[in-house]
Amino acid sequence: MIKNSLTINLPAEAQTLELGAKLAVHSGSNTTIFLLGNLGAGKTTLSRGFLQGLGHTGKVKSPTYTLVEPYEIGDQKIFHFDLYRIHDPQELEFMGIQDYFVPPVLCLIEWPEHGAGFLPSPDVSCYIETQSTGRLARLTAHTVQGAAILATLSSEYSDDDKK
Ligand SMILES: Nc1ncnc2c1ncn2[C@@H]1O[C@H](COP(=O)(O)OP(=O)(O)OP(=O)(O)O)[C@@H](O)[C@H]1O
Ligand SMILES: [Mg+2]
Repeated sequence: MIKNSLTINLPAEAQTLELGAKLAVHSGSNTTIFLLGNLGAGKTTLSRGFLQGLGHTGKVKSPTYTLVEPYEIGDQKIFHFDLYRIHDPQELEFMGIQDYFVPPVLCLIEWPEHGAGFLPSPDVSCYIETQSTGRLARLTAHTVQGAAILATLSSEYSDDDKK
C-alpha cells in the first residue's frame, strides 16, 4: 500500500514525542526527514521522540547554535540539524555538509528551507501547525520509502487521531 500524506492530531507534547518515536521505528536505516513549522511548533520535540524511539536515553539538545548534533545508537548514525541560523544556503557547502549525507544515515532537518539546494531530498516532510491548543502534523511522502513509512504509521493511528 502506498500513502502520500497523513495528518495527525497532536493534542499535547506527549503525542508529538509519540509521533517522533513511531516515525523512528519505521524509518529504517537511511532516511531523510524534513521538519517544518514556525518557531516553537514542536520540531525539536518530535526529534527528541524520534531519538528516544531508537533507544537514546541521554539529552537531546536543540542544534540551534551548533547547526548539527550527531548521535550514534548501536551502528546507526543519526544527525539532527537546525538550519534556522543559516542565511545563505552556500554556508552549508563551506561547512562540508555533504559529508554528513553518506548513507546509511538518518537525518532530521529543522528549517530545511534555509538549506535549499544543498540538502538531500526528503523521504518524508512533517509540517507542524500550531492549533489553539496542541498541534497538527501534516506528513507528506516524497519517495516510495517515505510512502511506505506513512502507510505503516497510518495503520498505527485510529481515525480519531487523524484528520
Ligand atoms: N502537541 C503539542 N501540544 C502542545 N505543545 C507542544 C506540542 N508539541 C510540542 N509542544 C511544545 O512546544 C514547545 C516548543 O517546542 P520545540 O522546541 O520542539 O519547537 P521547535 O519547532 O523545535 O522550535 P524552533 O523552531 O525554535 O527550533 C515546547 O515547549 C513543547 O513542549
Ligand atoms: Mg527546534
